[in-house]
Amino acid sequence: MFREDFVWGVASSAYQVEGTDAADGRGACVWDMFAADGRVFEHQNAGTSCDHMHHYKEDIALMKHLGIRAYRFSLNWARILPEGTGRVNEKAIAMYRDMILTMKENGITPYLTLFHWEFPQALYERGGWQNPDVVQWFGEYAKVVAENFSDICEYFITINEPQCVVGLGHLSGVHAPGVKLPVAQTFLVAHHLLMAHGQAVINLRRYAVRPVKIGFAPTGGVAYPYTDRPEDIEAAKKVYFGFYNPIDNWTWNVSWFSDPVFLGHYPEEGLKKFAPYLPEITQEDMELIYQPLDFMGQNIYNGYYVRAGADGEPEFVDRAPGFPKTGSDWPVTPEAFYYGIKFLTERYPLPLYITENGMSCHDLVSSDGRVHDPNRITFLDSYIGAMQKAYDEGANVAGYFLWTFLDNFEWADGYKQRFGIVYVDFASQRRIVKDSAFWYQKIIETNGRML
Ligand code: NOJ
Repeated sequence: MFREDFVWGVASSAYQVEGTDAADGRGACVWDMFAADGRVFEHQNAGTSCDHMHHYKEDIALMKHLGIRAYRFSLNWARILPEGTGRVNEKAIAMYRDMILTMKENGITPYLTLFHWEFPQALYERGGWQNPDVVQWFGEYAKVVAENFSDICEYFITINEPQCVVGLGHLSGVHAPGVKLPVAQTFLVAHHLLMAHGQAVINLRRYAVRPVKIGFAPTGGVAYPYTDRPEDIEAAKKVYFGFYNPIDNWTWNVSWFSDPVFLGHYPEEGLKKFAPYLPEITQEDMELIYQPLDFMGQNIYNGYYVRAGADGEPEFVDRAPGFPKTGSDWPVTPEAFYYGIKFLTERYPLPLYITENGMSCHDLVSSDGRVHDPNRITFLDSYIGAMQKAYDEGANVAGYFLWTFLDNFEWADGYKQRFGIVYVDFASQRRIVKDSAFWYQKIIETNGRML
């Protein structure tokens, strides 16, 4: 049984659900440019998406109806600061304040993410994440957030999935801004992201009107053991926190992003392996990155098998033919969820929130007008069961945010993937509650007890 105050929530991000209506005077962000360049599936864009900015009242009322206790959402930086710094857009502040107040009126605790990838275009044109000034730019934004929202919101998450910002945005180029930088520049981008996180924590605390709670939401596939033999478990852990990826795919790494934030230093093994590519890293940089935090977030979706080879060194194991997969072709690996939670809570000292977990399915509206998604229920049942097992064995896990509430704009995949527990008919903006949402409602009611 989970602790009484276990947080059962849903997660989303501004760009994926809001719609890009600029009537409030918002500025452009890199995703607008990326989509305008036709780089999203079937030339789609986030133009209307679920039009959450005009429907949040009913969406939040629906969350309440389903018993959801917390909503992890994000602010669009470029909506609040149209040029990225300087002039504050009061209309955006008013909208987000109203959104937060609506959550509170409905008994839903807001968890506010500052950066879920809506990087202001104006700042991109000044060098983006490669310009060292980005640390101050993000700090200024965090100050505006603290001054305008800390009276009504207590929980803040600085950055979502820095791994994707670096790897997909700046190395493989499949996400905005869609550039393929030389590897050394990607380490600079990563270092600036971590320093920006630190500066944001300082400013959130400095300018908040009351004490606030702050975390970070990285990601990374979980290396998990092929069997539960202790040698295999050790081998998996070694890979999960280690440096086995090729350099042109280095960013899928947990410890490079989490050790500095939660332990105060880059991992030795990485410093050695990446030495030829690293920017100058000073003691002051490390002190800036290592700010006291209240919780650790982690987005976990899946993992890959590792075992100890004959020489004791880790080796990767292929999955069996027919291994289950989601709509995005991601493997269904509840054991990875169990081991990921265990490994993370053993290594890092803070309570863990699963800041995202869920699956995309090829959902259809049935002839009875409903959306039956048994695969998603099976997925969630096995993952939440795995989390329960880790929790029962002592893992300090404090909350779970299901990705996601509404079907929405899945980045470069456009609307191809439906991750929601609520179906959205994008043409009419009609919402249909999927079977999985009713299932989740029961899980919340019974505090995670399987029915
Ligand atoms: C990670 C991202 O944070 C989120 O924006 C995305 O939609 C989900 N995973 C699913 O891919």
